[in-house]
Amino acid sequence: MSTKNIALGVGGGIAAYKSAELARALMERDCTVDVVMTRAAEEFIRPLTFAGLTGRKVHSHLFATSGSEDTLNSAIDHIRIGQEAAALVIAPATADLLAKLAHGLADDLLTTMYLAFTGPVILAPAMNTNMWNHPATQTNLKTLRARGHVIVEPDDGLLACGVVGPGRLAEPVRIADLVMRALEHQQPDLAHLLHGETILITAGPTQEPIDGVRFISNRSSGKMGYALAEEAVARGAKVVLVSGPVHLRPPRGVTLVPVRTAAEMRQAVMEQLSEATIIIKAAAVADYYVPDAPSQKRKKTSEPLTLALAPTIDILAELGTKKGGRLLIGFAAETANLIDEARRKLIAKNCDMVVANAVVGPNGEKPGIGFEADDNEVVLVKRDEAIPVSRAPKRRIAAWILDEVRNLRLAAPVTAQTAQGI
Ligand code: PMT
Repeated sequence: MSTKNIALGVGGGIAAYKSAELARALMERDCTVDVVMTRAAEEFIRPLTFAGLTGRKVHSHLFATSGSEDTLNSAIDHIRIGQEAAALVIAPATADLLAKLAHGLADDLLTTMYLAFTGPVILAPAMNTNMWNHPATQTNLKTLRARGHVIVEPDDGLLACGVVGPGRLAEPVRIADLVMRALEHQQPDLAHLLHGETILITAGPTQEPIDGVRFISNRSSGKMGYALAEEAVARGAKVVLVSGPVHLRPPRGVTLVPVRTAAEMRQAVMEQLSEATIIIKAAAVADYYVPDAPSQKRKKTSEPLTLALAPTIDILAELGTKKGGRLLIGFAAETANLIDEARRKLIAKNCDMVVANAVVGPNGEKPGIGFEADDNEVVLVKRDEAIPVSRAPKRRIAAWILDEVRNLRLAAPVTAQTAQGI
């Protein structure tokens, strides 16, 4: 089986013409592409276009229209294509196709092949904005996400029907990049990807005492940092996890260093720094603390209590001055100007990448991502690009982040000296 044979399903939407660009983008990434079209797709683009582009037969009908032998060969096609493909990408994935996939309907070659396919599935929806926002479509997407399929969120913009909003097929190059990343995740031996790296990860909140029993903290559950630690171990790295107080079991194979306050987190990070080759700061470190908090519980009175707060030391900024050849990955939890703020932190704190996540929208919590949530949605901000990663479980987000960390490493190999900052 070719490790880079891709099955490209084409749905019947106005964006079908862009699938030709996607086929070309995949071929530029050394893939062979087998195109499977729905009948509706043939109304928008001719099979000959794809045949000419890919140099391979284009498949569309479950049962050939002529001769028994053709019929038999055609019916076996959906099994063969699925067995030979390393990934299945469907673009455009229309609302109708998403519904059929979600409910396991198989009334044509593409949907039959989907049911027979066992590898990574990448879906790039494209449709009218109202159809995209319809609860039925969103429910189908939730089902498909839960199966672990990669959903390439459509872009906002002017649609063929004249409406402006989400629903435009994502750019073919972005879809192709996500297909290649999905292929990388499928590599059976992930363990070689970060072998030899020592990754220092911070996770969870810190607790800043007000007195002997009370403290200031935040809602970080530690899930994002722990997912990174689990994924890093799976990829062969040695992992040191400096964690604030959370209710999570430490991932197997990591060295856990529990801390409570920002000061304790800073001390633990600096103690572990010399061994680290990569640092990832996912912890929600308190920005302020109460100097000289009394060890006794403050007595409650009927008078207002005023607390004098002082800024904590910015650990990420300090690491930016000491990182040497290490890769330094920061996070940014923002409520507005997500990418601008993340880019500012990237430069100001000398990071190699900042993982930006919107945590609280102006009208309240962004549902289902960020603090405490099982999912997250991030933008990976690097010096020369910003890569949006659609909403997914935090373990999958961790995989995307570590993919980019590996790309950064491949672009800037580390030597022992550079890692020590010599
Ligand atoms: O833990 P979960 O419930 O899974 O939630 C995940 C998360 C939302 C906490 C996580 O995705 C996240 O955004 N973590 C960073 C939260 C944060 O403190 O963001 P910030 O923009 O305030 O800080 C920017 C960076 O500076 C962070 O890397 C932070 O670790 C670091 N920092 C901040 C303050 C400080 N005194 N020292 C630091 O190192």
